[in-house]
Amino acid sequence: MTDYSFPDDFLWGSATSAHQIEGSPLADGAGASIWQRFAHTPGLTANGDTGDIACDHYNRYRDDVALMASLGLKAYRFSVAWGRVLPQGTGTVNQAGLDFYDRLVDTLLEHGIQPLPTLYHWDLPAALDDRGGWLNPDISHWFADYGEILFRKLDGRVKRWATLNEPWVVTDGGYLHGALAPGHKNLFEAPIASRNLMRAHGAAVQRYRAAGAHEIGLVVNIEPKYPASDNDADRAATERSDAYMNRQYLDPAYGRGCPAELAEIFGPAWQPWSEADLELAAQPTDWLGINYYTRGVMTDDPLKWPVRAGYVRQAGKTYTETGWEVYEQGLTDTLLWIKERYGNPPVTITENGSAFFDPPKARDGRIRDPLRVDYLQRHLRAVHAAIQAGADVRGYMAWSLLDNLEWSLGFSKRFGIVHVDFETQDRTAKDSARFYAKVVASNGAALGQDPWSLVD
Ligand code: BGC
Repeated sequence: MTDYSFPDDFLWGSATSAHQIEGSPLADGAGASIWQRFAHTPGLTANGDTGDIACDHYNRYRDDVALMASLGLKAYRFSVAWGRVLPQGTGTVNQAGLDFYDRLVDTLLEHGIQPLPTLYHWDLPAALDDRGGWLNPDISHWFADYGEILFRKLDGRVKRWATLNEPWVVTDGGYLHGALAPGHKNLFEAPIASRNLMRAHGAAVQRYRAAGAHEIGLVVNIEPKYPASDNDADRAATERSDAYMNRQYLDPAYGRGCPAELAEIFGPAWQPWSEADLELAAQPTDWLGINYYTRGVMTDDPLKWPVRAGYVRQAGKTYTETGWEVYEQGLTDTLLWIKERYGNPPVTITENGSAFFDPPKARDGRIRDPLRVDYLQRHLRAVHAAIQAGADVRGYMAWSLLDNLEWSLGFSKRFGIVHVDFETQDRTAKDSARFYAKVVASNGAALGQDPWSLVD
């Protein structure tokens, strides 16, 4: 039988992001974000859902931290809403907004939970969007200035920072396909936004070296790509989609330049990065955050703009409510690919999880979510396999602590290991949370047991 014990200091936790859970987006002097505007534009989110209340975490953070402690979690990844700290994105600090994160960090530490803040999880101040947002090259200074305010306030207590969450999603959803804020659909903007995101990341890392004393890194979403067949066209489509989604950000971050395929994908919209841009993006970091949900099995498809690669659905596989195949081997493959390609940096899984339909609370008070339990067990075993094979994985943050606002999909998709009743704001630990708590308490060893024996 496999011994699933993890390294002694492995960091077990859960993750959320500001706009998805906090609610009260304009409270105490905060400035509106692009998500505030996007969600309040009729027709852009499912059911017209907004982040106005969400999980009301802004008011309930103490209870939520106590909940994490009751599950035995050792770390919490959250994000800071830029517009709470700087309502206009630059300039005058809003002390009340900064104080919220100060209190959150103190509360976490009082419960023995390590805070892992991310500076940017998609909620750009609307005032900066009015100045071009991620299309304006000045955003690297705006972002570094904002970061420095947090570093100076919290670095004594925060030991591990992340700059950006998923630059690929910011660009692909926000500037290329338009499904996410700010909702642009523009081939020419997408590569500019990507470059400015990575310049901003680098500028914040540089600033951190001057103002902070611990660790800083980038968080990317990786979806490993596998060809649907052995033919050359499918293999080339797989390489293009891998370049677009995975290597587009990691290659420059690790000093490998931009993948050659990007020129082919973007055609006339592609502009090579200057030496200065490449150097800024490649600032050495201390750790890497990986968000993993699924894989992509790719086929050549000229109609799929602009990458010309389509997804092939796999017969007989389980798909989540967001239409993603459950494929845990892809997580092991991803971690080993990072080890080989980027020199085995210390990695934390900053997100991994699944949306599934949850049954109503049973009479015994439990919410049974067997598919999510199964997903968790498979993926945690996959992380363990990668560690056994030499990948330097230091932590795992389950996405998500709470059911929350799934961006344009509103509250229709539940990723939480803790159920949220959005009418009453009651929280109920689902079976997946009960299972995860046992895994954490055993430092992984319980992954060797029948999961149902752990939750019943
Ligand atoms: C994002 C989360 C999101 C999750 C599930 C990630 O891309 O960082 O904010 O809720 O995926 O879609």
